[in-house]
Amino acid sequence: MYSEKVMDHFQNPRNMGEIEDASGVGTVGNARCGDIMRMYLDIDDNGVIKEAKFKTFGCGAAVATSSMATELVKGRTVQEALEVTNKAVMDALDGLPPVKVHCSLLAEEAIHAALWDYAEKEGIVIEGLKKPKADIHEGEEEEQY
Ligand code: FES
Repeated sequence: MYSEKVMDHFQNPRNMGEIEDASGVGTVGNARCGDIMRMYLDIDDNGVIKEAKFKTFGCGAAVATSSMATELVKGRTVQEALEVTNKAVMDALDGLPPVKVHCSLLAEEAIHAALWDYAEKEGIVIEGLKKPKADIHEGEEEEQY
C-alpha cells in the first residue's frame, strides 16, 4: 500500500498550479494509462530553480511524485536538479508499490523536459541532460508491466 508520505502528498499536493512566463515548461505523458504531467520551472540568472509548479492529470502516485519532485528541485541548481531521479523521488516518499514505479518516471521525465525547454530558450547545453521523451513508453520501460 501507499506510505504515509505518498498519501500526504496526494491529498495535499505541494506546488500545484502553473508559472506564468516560466523559464522552462515540460509536458510528458504515458500513453498506456493516459496520464499527463506538466512541470513549470522558474530559473534565475545563476541557474538556480526559484520556483517549481506542476499540473498532473493522473493517478494518485503521479500526483504524489510530481508534488515531491517540485519540492526536491526547488532551490537547486539546474545541474543538481538532474540528480532528482525517479528513484530519489520514490526514496523521499518512502517508496511506492512496484506497480506504481512507472508513475514516478513521469516526474523525472517532466523535470528533464522542463530543463530541456529552458536550455533551448537560453541557448545553453546542460551537461548530462538527454532529450526527453514525450511519452515515457517510447522505449525501455516496457518490462515494468
Ligand atoms: Fe498512470 Fe500512474 S497509472 S501515471
